[in-house]
Amino acid sequence: MARQKELFAAPETGAGLCLAAGLTLFRYYLDGAAQRSLAGGIAEAVLKAPWYIPTMPRSGHPLSVKMTNCGGLGWVSDRDGGYRYQAAHPVTGEAWPPIPQLALSAWRALASYPHPPEACLVNFYDRHARMGLHQDRDEAELAAPVVSISLGDSCCFRYSGLRRGDAARKIELNSGDVLVMGGAARLTFHGVDKIFPGSSGLLPDGGRINLTLRRVTRPRAM
Ligand code: SIN
Ligand code: MN
Repeated sequence: MARQKELFAAPETGAGLCLAAGLTLFRYYLDGAAQRSLAGGIAEAVLKAPWYIPTMPRSGHPLSVKMTNCGGLGWVSDRDGGYRYQAAHPVTGEAWPPIPQLALSAWRALASYPHPPEACLVNFYDRHARMGLHQDRDEAELAAPVVSISLGDSCCFRYSGLRRGDAARKIELNSGDVLVMGGAARLTFHGVDKIFPGSSGLLPDGGRINLTLRRVTRPRAM
């Protein structure tokens, strides 16, 4: 089969920057053209699966990010149902749109995992939004990494270890960066402290989009 032509340049070393065992950062993995193409794909997806504001389990407090999803499954949260994956948009009841090809290409190139992702959570951060320290642990398949793609304004990303109280480090994530959280870092606590408004001109109205690709179910043994 002919190799799909990629829109983005491979990172120079191919190996990325190792922040910790299993936590690898590929700076500017998506070049400007690829970022514009992927941002366009997300804008199209949002026409089918509009942004909605998830709420916290039990308290019902709204998160400060808006969310939508692409893929067969989407991550949702609300007061009564809690954190979960489901095949339908919680407001429209429609199936989620497909995961954009560029995001699937990044997964194939970087995930070191033989099966495709099933969910692509799409977060939108306006200048005031943030995300508290948490683990991504609603997936049955923890052998697959979480692959995170940043678009638009830069942010201050915080990560610690496998315990909430572990010493935290901060890095800036910029548009086009891809972060892979896998292996020993699959359950690393992480969050977003702050958005830097105006740091990117990619999104017409500013803000930051983050895509996280996840494998949710364990593949059946062949
Ligand atoms: C997330 O943890 O779901 C998003 C992380 C990010 O926005 O970089
Ligand atoms: Mn997360």
